[in-house]
Amino acid sequence: MAQILPSVFGANLLRLQDEIQFLENEQTEILHVDLMDGTYVSNIAFGPNQIAAMKKASTMTFDVHMMLANPERHIDDVIKTGAEMISVHYESTPHVHFILQKIKKAGRKAGVVLNPGTPESVLEYLLDDIDYILIMTINPGQPGQTFIEKSIEKIKNTKKMIAGRNIKIEVDGGVNIDIAKKVKQAGADLIVVGGALFNDTPQESYRALKSAIQ
Ligand code: DX5
Ligand code: ZN
Repeated sequence: MAQILPSVFGANLLRLQDEIQFLENEQTEILHVDLMDGTYVSNIAFGPNQIAAMKKASTMTFDVHMMLANPERHIDDVIKTGAEMISVHYESTPHVHFILQKIKKAGRKAGVVLNPGTPESVLEYLLDDIDYILIMTINPGQPGQTFIEKSIEKIKNTKKMIAGRNIKIEVDGGVNIDIAKKVKQAGADLIVVGGALFNDTPQESYRALKSAIQ
C-alpha cells in the first residue's frame, strides 16, 4: 500500500509544533525531513540538532533525506537524531556503501537517493544493502518545482530492477494529486509531498492526496 510522506520543509516553521500536531492528528506514519548544506544543494535546511528537537516532539517515524557534500562527515550526527530512516545521495560521495553500512549497523533503514540524471542501474551492487530507493522527481534543493515526467519510466524500471527484493520505492518533488496517482501506478510506495499539502487548506489537501492513492 502506498503512503503519503509530508515533507516538513514545506511546513510553516513559525508554527512547527502545530504543524507536527496536525500531521499526528491525521495519523501520519512517516515524516520526510530534508537536510541541506548549502554546498551539495544551494539551499540550507534542518541540521541534526533541529531534527533531534523535532524528533523529541513527535511520535512519527523520521525519514531524513541527506543532501550533503561529504555525508561521511555528518552521518554519525544524523544517526544520533534518532531518525529511523536515513537516505544518502548516490552522487554526493564515493563512499555510499560505507555510509549505508553505518546506517544499517545503527539499526536504521537505509536508502539511496538518485538525482534525475542518475540511472537506477548504478545501484546494481548495492541492492542487498538498501531498504529503499528515493527517486528525485525534481532537482533537489528547491521546493515548488515541476515534476519531471521522465521519472515515471524510471520508477517502472526501478521496480523491475528490484524484482522480488524487499526494497521500497520513494519519490520526492513536484507531487500533486494527479501525480501521486501516476507515481503510485508506476510502482512508488512512499510519496513525498511538500507544497501540495502545506497550502491554505492542508487538511483537505492531505486527505485528498491520501484518498487519491487508495
Ligand atoms: C526538495 C526536497 C523535497 C521538497 C519537496 O529538494 O527534497 O522534500 O520538500 O517539495 P515539493 O513537494 O513542494 O516539490
Ligand atoms: Zn526531500
